[in-house]
Amino acid sequence: MAGYIVNITNLYKEYIRDDMRIPVLYDINLDVPTGEFLALMGPSGSGKTTLLNLIAGIDRPTKGDLSVAGESVANLTEGQLAQWRANHIGFIFQFYNLIPVLTAFDNVELPLLLTSLSKRERREHVETALSIVGLADRMNHYPRQLSGGQEQRVAIARALVTDPSILLADEPTGDLDRQSAEAIMTLLGRLNSEFNKTIIMVTHDPRAAESAKVVRHLDKGELT
Ligand SMILES: Nc1ncnc2c1ncn2[C@@H]1O[C@H](COP(=O)(O)OP(=O)(O)O)[C@@H](O)[C@H]1O
Ligand SMILES: [Mg+2]
Repeated sequence: MAGYIVNITNLYKEYIRDDMRIPVLYDINLDVPTGEFLALMGPSGSGKTTLLNLIAGIDRPTKGDLSVAGESVANLTEGQLAQWRANHIGFIFQFYNLIPVLTAFDNVELPLLLTSLSKRERREHVETALSIVGLADRMNHYPRQLSGGQEQRVAIARALVTDPSILLADEPTGDLDRQSAEAIMTLLGRLNSEFNKTIIMVTHDPRAAESAKVVRHLDKGELT
């Protein structure tokens, strides 16, 4: 569908553990227009992370259709999926997932090592991404030398640096104090409004969801 970056039709997901089927998502239908800033809310265990991982191509649906950035993700091989993910997906985690032995610069550069960019081009992209998140002056700092909010901004720069089609964030403010959380939400809002980034953010914090343009609720595996 033109104008949409995500089309989800009759999506169903179950996990299998010890021969037991654990249904997690039931008949999800969701179309996300390009340029959207969508917050997915719902209680713990409602399937938010599962849904985000499916959109990211980190996991595969049990049944149903899932098209993201023009690709029917379920049909790709593992190798194609990894390449597709590198081109189209920027992922932001609750606990930042920075590599502790790498500086902010090196953490942000990591996704670019998979591209054909030259060292000089990589440096330009990394500096731009770190400037956008307001941390150009912290380039040579290690994660332990940064506050939680700064670590998350480095993680956002890492998600942005490849200029992905879509930014996915799983509880990006879940580990932050209120003030740092607000700074992160302001940043995500700006990435959406100024840089036209499509964002899907999972959160259970109503305050965080206020920055989004649209809020959808997930309850026991169903979108309401
Ligand atoms: N890899 C897995 N194997 C089995 N069950 C899982 C797995 N991942 C998640 N689940 C189950 O799926 C349900 C939804 O989990 P999740 O998507 O993480 O919810 P949320 O992010 O909304 O808290 C939970 O009941 C959880 O225990
Ligand atoms: Mg979760």
